[in-house]
Amino acid sequence: MWARDAAEMVATGITWVRIGEFAWSRLEPDPGRFTFDWLDRAIDVLSSAGLKIVLGTPTCTPPRWMLERFPDMLARDASGQLRKFGSRRHYCFSHAGYRAASADIAAVLGDRYGRDARIHAWQIDNEYGCHDTILSYSEAARDAFRLWLRDRYGEITALNEAWGNVFWSMEYRDFDEIELPNLTVTQANPSHDMAFRRFSSDQVVAYHTAQADVLRARTDAPLLHNYMGRVLEFDHFDVGASLDIATWDSYPIGFLSDRLEGTAEHKARFLQQGDPDMQAFHHDLYRAVGRDGRWWVMEQQPGPVNWAPHNPAPLPGMVRLWSWEAFAHGAEVVSYFRWRQAPFAQEQMHAGLKRPDNAAAPGLAEVARVAREIAQMPDAGTAAARVALIFDYPSAWAWDVLPQGTGFSYFRLMLDAYRALRRRGLSVDIVPSSTSDLSGYALALAPGLASMPDALCAALAGRTALVGPRSNAVTDELCIPDPMGPSLPGLDVTATRVESLPPTHERPVKGGGSVGLWCETLEGTAECLFETEAGAPVLIGDGTLHYLGSWPDAALWDRIIRALAAKADLDVEDLPEGLRLRDTPSHRFVFNYGSKPVAYKDQVVEPADVVWWPHASC
Ligand code: GAL
Repeated sequence: MWARDAAEMVATGITWVRIGEFAWSRLEPDPGRFTFDWLDRAIDVLSSAGLKIVLGTPTCTPPRWMLERFPDMLARDASGQLRKFGSRRHYCFSHAGYRAASADIAAVLGDRYGRDARIHAWQIDNEYGCHDTILSYSEAARDAFRLWLRDRYGEITALNEAWGNVFWSMEYRDFDEIELPNLTVTQANPSHDMAFRRFSSDQVVAYHTAQADVLRARTDAPLLHNYMGRVLEFDHFDVGASLDIATWDSYPIGFLSDRLEGTAEHKARFLQQGDPDMQAFHHDLYRAVGRDGRWWVMEQQPGPVNWAPHNPAPLPGMVRLWSWEAFAHGAEVVSYFRWRQAPFAQEQMHAGLKRPDNAAAPGLAEVARVAREIAQMPDAGTAAARVALIFDYPSAWAWDVLPQGTGFSYFRLMLDAYRALRRRGLSVDIVPSSTSDLSGYALALAPGLASMPDALCAALAGRTALVGPRSNAVTDELCIPDPMGPSLPGLDVTATRVESLPPTHERPVKGGGSVGLWCETLEGTAECLFETEAGAPVLIGDGTLHYLGSWPDAALWDRIIRALAAKADLDVEDLPEGLRLRDTPSHRFVFNYGSKPVAYKDQVVEPADVVWWPHASC
């Protein structure tokens, strides 16, 4: 069957396969007893057929015997409950023994296959953070947190001072008195919580780096990890620093149903297509995470999945559209999860390219078509966008810890800004907050950035830029700074008060649109460009640098982007509902996420279709 599979993959146009990412119980059935014959055979069969192999380290699924070795390696959730064996990701990132065991199995695999030319890339672990697995409240995490705090603050008095522990008599006499910030009577000190969030991200990085170092010493093939969509609990830029390629797992229909806010109408309209901006947002984000912009889709949804509340099938054409959208954003590879639907265990209801009875599933023909089309397409490269959106993981942690109003989510704010840019036909680069160079960009947006590094402020100066809402509003310890934010060089504005509002309450803005959810009172001498009907400033600016003090609805975002684009000399379009564009250096791609045909330029784009043309004929 394997040989037939390999031949059929090649006939379909597939060039890469990923194997082994969950296979620990077959690689090492008992501690120290390895069985490689099956893997050797699989590598031989796949490679002889001409397929390039990504080999996974199996550390996302420690076998049952590992628990006998390390009974305390399991994570605990915030209510203190153990997260037991019987599925996957059952480990705490802070457990030193399991971390070493993970590096050991990576070394065993690296020793055996690191110089094997048939292995073209290595995937480390699988989807850090999937199933809510970054924050662990285990004893291993508590002990490691105390060490991390000692290292960060040096003296306990410095920690007390930084966190403001005099409030409610929370002062500590020693680092060993500090617990994890769960199970407190009411809210834990946000500084304590924020430190725990930073620590938890650092633990992922340390866990990951242990494997990356071991593999680096044993192979020259690129190292990668498959990130997930809307997982923000660890800093992907920090993990990415030891990798060559960022890959991610794109499940557009699952995401729409499972992890996106949106009206019932929006979710109904895109039920079988997925949200028109969610995939592109992550393509652009992971292009920034990958070294030199290198990124792939490691898992592309091929049909109905099993894990969302409802699991409709993609509209015919969507598997092709999603694949082309990834390539248009610069993906080197789009790989599908999975080849054949497994008739057993947790994912038996998850579609593959082949059905459980080995007949072709509907996605397979679309994949074959994409492969044929790609073969005829010149290598287009990746266009640098003219618009930068600054992205920062610690800001997501800050606003989780201190939301001030239900529904304040950094990701949601970023996606709202991104959507507004895309509705105007703009291509976007996502850029980390550590940047000090925005010189290639005509327009830069930095919403919700908890604290802004000086180098970023300097890079924003002199170019058309939007900062806010809630930017430069706290210190690194999550306290109110003195002077109060946003403290932007060259822009006289202070956010002197904040209101958060329920979704039922919106404040109309003069000229159209409204604000809600988050409204700052802005004081200062900068010019007011938009204000509420009651006369409260919403957007102020000094010509190039602008500060947005509230959370706009879509109509107001559109007006803001139009105004800023005009200042930045950028051409914008008014795209029909569901239509999205992406320019590569050679081509313009047009994607119709809608369920009706749409006219664009001289073309009619059918539902779930993608069309492209060279720029010259545009
Ligand atoms: C991903 C994961 C795969 C599979 C897939 C199902 O989260 O990496 O192993 O579980 O989702 O959609």
